[in-house]
Amino acid sequence: MSWRDLFSARATRRTFLRGGALGAAAATLPLELQAMPKRSASLRLPFEPLPPSKADEFLVAKGYRQQVLLRWHDDLGNGTFGCDPDFTAFMPIDLLEHGFDLTRAHAGYAPRNASSSEGLLVVNHEYVDPRFLQKGADQHTEVGMSVSHIVRKDERWQLVKDRRLNRRYDARTEFRLTGAAAMIDGGPIAIGTFANCSGGVTPWGTVLSCEENFQDFLEGGLEWDPKIYARRHYGWIVEIDPYDPAATPRKHTAMGRMRHENVGIRVGHDGTVVAYMGDDKRDSCVYKFIADRKLRDPRDRAANLAILESGRLYAADFSTGRWILLDSSAEALADSRKTAIDAGATPVDRPEDLEIHPRDGSVFIAMTNNALHGNFYGHIVRLVERNDDPAATEFEWSVFATGGPQSGFSCPDNLLFDDAGNLWMCTDVSNDSVGRGIYSFLGNNSLFYLPRDYQGGAVYRFAVGPIECELTGPCWTPDGSTMFIAAQHPGGHSAELETKGPTSHWPDGGNAMPRGAVVAITGFRTL
Ligand code: FEO
Ligand code: CA
Ligand code: CA
Ligand code: CA
Repeated sequence: MSWRDLFSARATRRTFLRGGALGAAAATLPLELQAMPKRSASLRLPFEPLPPSKADEFLVAKGYRQQVLLRWHDDLGNGTFGCDPDFTAFMPIDLLEHGFDLTRAHAGYAPRNASSSEGLLVVNHEYVDPRFLQKGADQHTEVGMSVSHIVRKDERWQLVKDRRLNRRYDARTEFRLTGAAAMIDGGPIAIGTFANCSGGVTPWGTVLSCEENFQDFLEGGLEWDPKIYARRHYGWIVEIDPYDPAATPRKHTAMGRMRHENVGIRVGHDGTVVAYMGDDKRDSCVYKFIADRKLRDPRDRAANLAILESGRLYAADFSTGRWILLDSSAEALADSRKTAIDAGATPVDRPEDLEIHPRDGSVFIAMTNNALHGNFYGHIVRLVERNDDPAATEFEWSVFATGGPQSGFSCPDNLLFDDAGNLWMCTDVSNDSVGRGIYSFLGNNSLFYLPRDYQGGAVYRFAVGPIECELTGPCWTPDGSTMFIAAQHPGGHSAELETKGPTSHWPDGGNAMPRGAVVAITGFRTL
């Protein structure tokens, strides 16, 4: 399919979807909040929902299979799999030959016919809990990111110990800062990446990783060497090329510096590239970056690799429904929260994931919680750009779902759409309160399903993680047959570790120390 065909394919699909799959009512209404489809009377779930669980197990709905694929310390043949995994991205091995489908942000822009049985799994390794480090291990090499070549054989996924493609990006790797703040604090070389939380995939086949709570490594107990780790070299969005181990990884200062959680990219009809981002800190903002350069033929990677190096940064004013253009000087970019708040942007309740709806382009934002304002259960906001234009400066928004015992979930974090527009949501009640007190109703953190016509009320539990973990980073193979998902910090509280041992022994069982791992879930109907 040519580059122009990709755009026209989307136009055709949009037309069809508005008039067809979403029902007759949607066909005559503009893309506004009131156009949301009504919930169908006969909802059919693709699985039987699970009840809450507090067991030290990874549970998945009946009829689906799970397999622990990669765990902390696993030998990749070139480095080892890092600590607590967050974001995962399945990058089909043949993606660059197939090109990209711009309607499929939820599948990393991979067309359906790209490989769903062989790929590179890119994983973020967010935290390192020194209590669970192996003897003699170096914290600096546990964090960052990993790339693992994986294949599916006889319904099971396995690692290929590929010395060329498998690799780690850790706190020792050299990165190059780009953009207006590239020379800040002795740039443009920055040493390492860490606190990599969620991320995103670009429509040119690279992976973005978000540096979030970098301060936890520089202070608060770990105290990494400030002569190596200049504070303002962290808190950026990182771009790596999974297909080119020799490419220098970069950090894009034009996209601002904050507690970057996640990035969701949408491409406008004219090729304008827009990135939605959140600052996961209480009373912090939602951002949008509009790149200066338009997307070229997605396979022209040399041109597209420069897209995130320059552009305009905006922050959301939810009181007026406007995007505020921010100062893009180096100093302003390096403290995006202050810049945004001073400009009138709205402080919100810890924005975590932002995902693009595959059928209408609206942006879903998980506001995980904010105890400062009594929002203990969190909610999901849906944002609709004026005229369905991602470059618009005005938007409408509504609350799509609210956490609490009435809906059954709490503290929404990572989100994932499927092809049909159903939403999959991981919860992240913190490891010292999950399953206790006001969060008893939830049990362990879980993966929930919200049907595409969700209109509030109960959500459906598809999977449950082990004790005191957070489920993170779900992603699909292009055909939707496998979901990869991570269980981060199992046993993460373990308040009496010295005397009673860890609260979780997952995934190894027995008396083993817990370790974060990526699970492959199969049994989804192939698209
Ligand atoms: Fe790393 Fe905001 O979760
Ligand atoms: Ca996390
Ligand atoms: Ca998160
Ligand atoms: Ca979280």
